[in-house]
Amino acid sequence: MTQRYGQIVGWGKYAPPRVMTNADCAKILDTSDEWIVSRTGIRERHIAGDGETTKTMSLAAARQALDHAGIKPEEVDLIIVATSSPDYLLPPVSSQIQYALGCRCGAFEIKAGCTGFVYGLSVAQQFIGTGAYNTVLVIGAEIISRFLDWTDRNTAVLFGDGAGAVVLRAVDGPTGVLSFVLGSDGAGAEHLMMPGGGSASPASQRVLDERLNFIRMNGREVFRFASRVLGRAAQEAVARSGLAPDDIALFVPHQANLRILQLACRELGLPEEKMFINVDRYGNTSAASIPIALCEALEAGRCKDGDNIVLVGFGAGLTWAAAVVHLGAPQAPEAVSNWPIRLQVPAAAAASVNRVKNAAWQARRQVSSTLAAALLPLYTRTVKKVRRK
Ligand code: COA
Repeated sequence: MTQRYGQIVGWGKYAPPRVMTNADCAKILDTSDEWIVSRTGIRERHIAGDGETTKTMSLAAARQALDHAGIKPEEVDLIIVATSSPDYLLPPVSSQIQYALGCRCGAFEIKAGCTGFVYGLSVAQQFIGTGAYNTVLVIGAEIISRFLDWTDRNTAVLFGDGAGAVVLRAVDGPTGVLSFVLGSDGAGAEHLMMPGGGSASPASQRVLDERLNFIRMNGREVFRFASRVLGRAAQEAVARSGLAPDDIALFVPHQANLRILQLACRELGLPEEKMFINVDRYGNTSAASIPIALCEALEAGRCKDGDNIVLVGFGAGLTWAAAVVHLGAPQAPEAVSNWPIRLQVPAAAAASVNRVKNAAWQARRQVSSTLAAALLPLYTRTVKKVRRK
């Protein structure tokens, strides 16, 4: 059976109109534009206004993505929403979004911190790959500002609100998610958490008094963790795809901190222009950050049909994930209609030729991916040895 892939056929994003600059932060916190820019690269972030929720922002991004793809709500087979800040603990915001969009399909939430969108994309690819579904909507949306302690300068200046969405449609042949890496290390849970409000510590006067219903973070530990996993996850995903690092047109990472991204560029040996960065204008929008960055990269022409890109995230859990994504129509084999006239073959024969070429392409990828996975540890050890010298 030909392997099925989910081609990204539509994308959309939403950011609340209200913009909060570093100077605005300095009016309510003991901080400064200079401190925030030099430590994080963030200059401003979008903050949701009255009436805006994770649901409303998701709807705006999803409608844009569906319009862009030319797909009607009733054609959607599944909705996956990555968020850590749903409107309610119950019901899941995914069902509210399904109803409001007018879709007749299953819907669920994924919670994997800022890594959620890449997790969601890899799950969508499984449903498409098995043949269960043809059209999957994946959303990353967060309203983190409602869970920030606006008296805590360690966290309040870092985050922002927003939503991004993509539509995946089944095609035969390699495109969309070519490979992925998912990681989790619960040992680091305490470094980024909201201690109150869940079943371990339900809402109570104590939770409110001790401000346990807000995000707490050990910034240095999270920084160390992110710097460790970002480059490694990206390298592993590229190795698993069977592509060479030079085949990657653009890296679209989770936008948490400019310094983390610059360190990753150094580790990967990338020029900064190969990494898409918009953290200066959004701050950290958690699970929304990668789809928003992907939309902006596409809109700005930083990546286009035919390109291979890497999406890579890290966050609460602690979790991390990376995926190699091919944009546009399947990258192999070439369209038969491009052949010279004398080579034109009947449709059935052309389809067979396509299947053989497809299988050959996939076999080649399988071999090179196995080889790359075997050689990666050796490569990493050698690079470390050379660096130590
Ligand atoms: N303005 C001014 N000073 C601030 C501040 C702010 N907004 N936030 C913290 N500080 C102060 C602290 O109070 C502390 O002061 P002290 O030394 O007097 O106690 C000092 O700055 C902290 O310095 P340091 O820990 O060296 O800062 P840093 O260079 O590590 O930067 C972070 C702090 C939070 C920006 C950085 O650790 C970080 O980005 N970590 C990763 C966070 C992240 O990405 N989280 C989300 C992951 S999904």
